[in-house]
Amino acid sequence: MEHQHSEEELKNIAYQLGCPEGEHGIKTGEMMHASNIGMTTSAIDALDLKNNENVLEIGHGNGGHIAQLLSKAENLKYYGADISKTIIAEAEKINQEFLTQGNVQFKLTDGNSLRFHDHQFDKIFTVNTIYFWRNPSGYLNEIKRTLKPNGILALCFADKSFMQNLPFTSYGFTLYEVEKVKKLLESAGFTIENMVNKTEQIKSKTGQQVERTYHVMVASN
Ligand SMILES: C[S@@+](CC[C@H](N)C(=O)[O-])C[C@H]1O[C@@H](n2cnc3c(N)ncnc32)[C@H](O)[C@@H]1O
Repeated sequence: MEHQHSEEELKNIAYQLGCPEGEHGIKTGEMMHASNIGMTTSAIDALDLKNNENVLEIGHGNGGHIAQLLSKAENLKYYGADISKTIIAEAEKINQEFLTQGNVQFKLTDGNSLRFHDHQFDKIFTVNTIYFWRNPSGYLNEIKRTLKPNGILALCFADKSFMQNLPFTSYGFTLYEVEKVKKLLESAGFTIENMVNKTEQIKSKTGQQVERTYHVMVASN
């Protein structure tokens, strides 16, 4: 029989997904990588990476996908920004080789600002983080500031119609459907270039087999 989670357990799952911490956070990082690699791959594909580009990922999780990203073109530079010290330490461990080579760098962020230069990046992407943004308009302004003119943002999120059925999303998640994200992006001055919609079968954080609908919104600066 399926295990019924208590309210306390559900709150803890929600907290760990928003900011993985400690031993439990390391396990959460591994589980997120396994269950979200389809979404991450779709976002990376949408970026259409070219040789010598600078790429920023916001909320990278344990970074198990970064080797795959770096193989997409020659001489890519990957930057990661995350609010979790545990996750940054894990991502540094898993990507030690690329760190040593100088192709990868991770920075702790406060979740509201990005400690990078104006127009530093050709491409920026983020997967499964918008639910936790405290000030979405302000964060999109930061993304816009750090993107080059005509740079590309790929924003990947699971649809509200799917997320609202997960028992832990009532604890601190903000849920989005396409129209709401589109409005946010356009209000921040982005131009929507494309949208990829996908449905996939995954095992949910609470153990059930579920069908997930997600979107990759591709916008230019
Ligand atoms: C649900 S996990 C998703 C991880 C990975 N992108 C994936 O889809 O498997 C959310 C990640 O974003 C980070 N995060 C949450 N809010 C953030 C914010 N405002 N800025 C940067 N990272 C954030 C968390 O620490 C965590 O690593």
